[in-house]
Formats: sequence, structure tokens, C-alpha cells
Amino acid sequence: MKRIFSGIQPTGEIHIGNYIGAIKQWIELTSEYDCIYCVVDYHAITIEYDIEQLRQRTIDTGLILMACGLSPDNCKIFVQSHVPEHTELAWIFNCVTPIGELERMTQFKDKARQHRENINMGLMDYPVLQAADILIYKAGYVPVGEDQVQHIELSREVARKFNNRFSPLFPEPQAILSHAPRILGVDGINKMSKSMNNYIGILEDKDIIWEKLRTAVTDVNRVRRKDPGNPELCNIYTIHRAFSGNENLLEIDKGCRSASIGCIDCKKTLFENMVKELDPIREKAEQLKKNEDYVKDVLMDGAKLCREMAQNTMEEVRTSLGLYRPKIL
Ligand code: AMP
Ligand code: TRP
Repeated sequence: MKRIFSGIQPTGEIHIGNYIGAIKQWIELTSEYDCIYCVVDYHAITIEYDIEQLRQRTIDTGLILMACGLSPDNCKIFVQSHVPEHTELAWIFNCVTPIGELERMTQFKDKARQHRENINMGLMDYPVLQAADILIYKAGYVPVGEDQVQHIELSREVARKFNNRFSPLFPEPQAILSHAPRILGVDGINKMSKSMNNYIGILEDKDIIWEKLRTAVTDVNRVRRKDPGNPELCNIYTIHRAFSGNENLLEIDKGCRSASIGCIDCKKTLFENMVKELDPIREKAEQLKKNEDYVKDVLMDGAKLCREMAQNTMEEVRTSLGLYRPKIL
């Protein structure tokens, strides 16, 4: 069966950009693929973070993924630092990755601009660790949002360089994009993200979700209620596509273009559909919160299974590198 790998950072609340850009397809893919999903805590420490909060956020991120529908029955789910072979492989990949490739990564440039006081090696090396995450399981497909496509391309290059220099151990992984690969924030300008504070959290209270939706930017050319709008230029419509059925979508498309409905009408329908989908996730999360030990067990069992796979790959890698291997280590 074809193998999928993807990861999410435990950097804060999971928002609907994560959900419709990535997690929703993570769940869909479990029916057809052998899926491995990872809470990537070693990636999260490349920028300033709250030491007190990291531990709980890591568990909570696993918990939310489970509340969304992932479970040991349909995938493996674990915490990156529990499988230390990822970082070991990253070191080896460092030795085949040209620095120039890392310097031109858009995410590195953006984050270096945002965190001038702490431009560390880990921030630049981030995509190499990501390549190791994927390739240590020889995964061929990586469901991500659009912002990660460049990193997946780098993973392909790392795999190619390793295969040419040593032995052909690795596939060249491909990104799988959802129908909503780039969701803008409620500001309608920047990508929805935790750091921009322009997000709608998937576990947020309904009142807060409505308040954020109500004031969210739509098609900026639609100034007055009677102006016709263009759904293709509207971030709210993009979000609608992920939460609403075809009938609703057609109605809204027509109503917006002819100005027979206003933005608030459109947002009310979206709000209803969104709540319908997010309510059960919130309920499941509350249940899991009461049983956190179960979540921790799932993460631990996932790590055990993944570690075995990772160790097998590392033995092949060490042999290909020509390292001296004593009989017992
Ligand atoms: P992160 O929270 O940065 O670890 O991202 C987890 C996943 O969500 C990655 O696959 C991202 O590409 C995806 N993602 C994050 N923000 C967005 C967004 N605004 N629109 C679509 N996908 C996103
Ligand atoms: N860099 C990804 C993000 O910010 C998270 C990530 C780490 C990842 N390792 C990965 C995604 C491997 C896919 C595959 O969203």
C-alpha cells in the first residue's frame, strides 16, 4: 500500500486553515493509504516558544487530530521527538544538501525576517529535518497546504542527491494538495496562521467564531450591499467550499453575483455549516480531554511502531554510507 506522511507543529491552536488545508484530507486518505501523522515538536523549537507550554501543546495537538477522526485504527500518530532517528537522518541529509537551496526557501526568508533576533541554524535546517521525517518512512505522498510545497520539492532533491551518491533507498515524495490549499485569515490579506492572529480556531466558542466571521473581509470590491460580488475573489467563499454542500454553494454564488444576498447572509449559512461540522469535533475533544491518558497511550504506541520502521531505514542508511558497524551496539 502506498505510504503517506505528514506533520503539524504544536505551536498553538489548530485553525480552520490547518483543518481544511491539510487535516481533512489526512482523514480522507486513511481509507486508501498507509498513513503516518506526526506532531513535529523539534520543528516547533526553531522559533521562540514557551517552554512551559510545549509539553501540553504537543499532547493537545495529538488530541485534536484524534478528535478530527484520526485513530490507531486508521493511521499511526506520534510525536517526532519520540523517534530520535528523524534527527539522526537529518544530520546525514545535511551532508548532501547545498546551503544555497536552504537560503532560498520562502519560509526561511519569512521567518528570518519575523525573528531577526534569533535566526538560528535550526530555522535554516528546518526543511532538511522535514525531508528526514518523510523519507525515514519512505513515504511517497505528503498531504500539505500550499506553503509547504517548496519544502516537499526540497525533499525530492535530497532523496535524489542521497540516492545518486550512496544507494537508491528513497522515493521522491510528492505533495498532495487539498481543494483549499491556501486559506487567508479573517483579514482577507495574509495566510491564516497562528502567528498572525487572523485565525478561527477549530475548537473556539461559537460566539467567538461568529464574531470573527461576521467581521471577516470578503470581496473588497463589494462595498455596498447592492454591489454585485465575485465569489472567486472572496476568502469566505473559499472557506464555504470546504464546509458547504453543492446546493448551498450554487445559491450563494448566484446570490452574490446578482447581489440578491448580502455578505452577512452568506456568512450566516457558512456559520451554520461550519458549526455542524465542528460541533462533533469539539465534543470528541472534550471527551478525550477527560481521558488524556488514552491520548498519551495512542501517541506512545504510534511512536513504538514508527521507531521500528525508522530504525530499519537507519540501518540501511548507515550501511550505504560506509560507516563502521560493530556487531553489537
Ligand atoms: P503548521 O501549523 O504550520 O504546522 O501547518 C500544518 C498544516 O496545515 C500544513 O500542511 C500547512 O501547509 C497547512 N496550513 C497551515 N496554514 C494553512 C492555510 N492558511 N491554508 C491552508 N493550509 C494551511
Ligand atoms: N513544516 C510543516 C508545516 O509547518 C510541518 C512538517 C514537519 C511536515 N515535517 C513534515 C509536513 C513532514 C509534512 C511532512 O506545516
